[in-house]
Amino acid sequence: MTDFASKVILVTGAASGFGQAIANAFAKKGASLSLVDKDEENLNKVTEQCKKAGASKVLAVVADLRVEDDIVRAMNETIEMFDRLDVLVNNAGVFRTGSVEDTTMESFDLLFAVNVKAHFHFTQLAVPHLEKTKGNVINLTSIASEMLLSTDILYGMTKASLTYFTKTTALGLAEKGIRVNAVAPSVCRTNILKRPDALGPDLSEDEIFEFEEKTHPLGGVLIEKQDVVDAILFLASDSARTITGTNLLLDRGRLLAGPLYKRE
Ligand SMILES: NC(=O)c1ccc[n+]([C@@H]2O[C@H](COP(=O)([O-])OP(=O)(O)OC[C@H]3O[C@@H](n4cnc5c(N)ncnc54)[C@H](O)[C@@H]3O)[C@@H](O)[C@H]2O)c1
Repeated sequence: MTDFASKVILVTGAASGFGQAIANAFAKKGASLSLVDKDEENLNKVTEQCKKAGASKVLAVVADLRVEDDIVRAMNETIEMFDRLDVLVNNAGVFRTGSVEDTTMESFDLLFAVNVKAHFHFTQLAVPHLEKTKGNVINLTSIASEMLLSTDILYGMTKASLTYFTKTTALGLAEKGIRVNAVAPSVCRTNILKRPDALGPDLSEDEIFEFEEKTHPLGGVLIEKQDVVDAILFLASDSARTITGTNLLLDRGRLLAGPLYKRE
């Protein structure tokens, strides 16, 4: 069992969804937390939750991950406060539906900035600190990283890129004793599809969930936040000391079945 009470965990996108659940889970284990998000109001709420849940110390950093200086400031403030980093959870992400024909270049820049460039930058800044602690990085990819979804082309491209990044950095950082892994959930009820412009006018969140419930060979349920939390607590722990470069699918068999599969 890993004693997270002595560890410092940085979670991006901590104000909502998986990030909020991940922050609370590490808080319950007594970890020190650096929580990063652009949504100040919800970040403050999650910070209070984590303090009540048992976190040793919590730093909240309001930062827009599209802005390089914000990322540098978030890492600097984390190290100034805690003087170490054990686990970096690159979780923040945005979604846009759309094919190659109906995707704007504004969406292209946004998704690559938040879903790829920010994680690259945070990881780069974290390396010297993770080398000292023999720490690890966990990236939030998606089932879309390994499945050809032509109607969600941009999102899939960013997650495929993040999977490549996970594997190449796992290889590149192994000699420093740093592990790098990813978790790839299928669909879960968070706020990601509720964000402005995520779906466009012709698609509703309910339609997606109704469709997605039939795509999992293991049965009708969607992924729960707790499924992601459990995977991350494991990958972050010493129990996963042999695991690096993995993109852990949390998809109830969906990738095995393929994008056209429908369970009656
Ligand atoms: N929910 C799903 O079905 C699902 C499935 C697979 C993977 N994921 C991935 O999980 C991760 C978390 O998503 P979620 O579902 O919890 O979404 P969410 O929308 O509930 O939370 C995302 C968080 O990221 C923050 N964020 C977005 N852009 C930011 C920016 N520019 N600067 C700082 N913070 C920013 C938001 O403010 C929000 O708090 C994402 O990487 C997403 O791609 C989600």
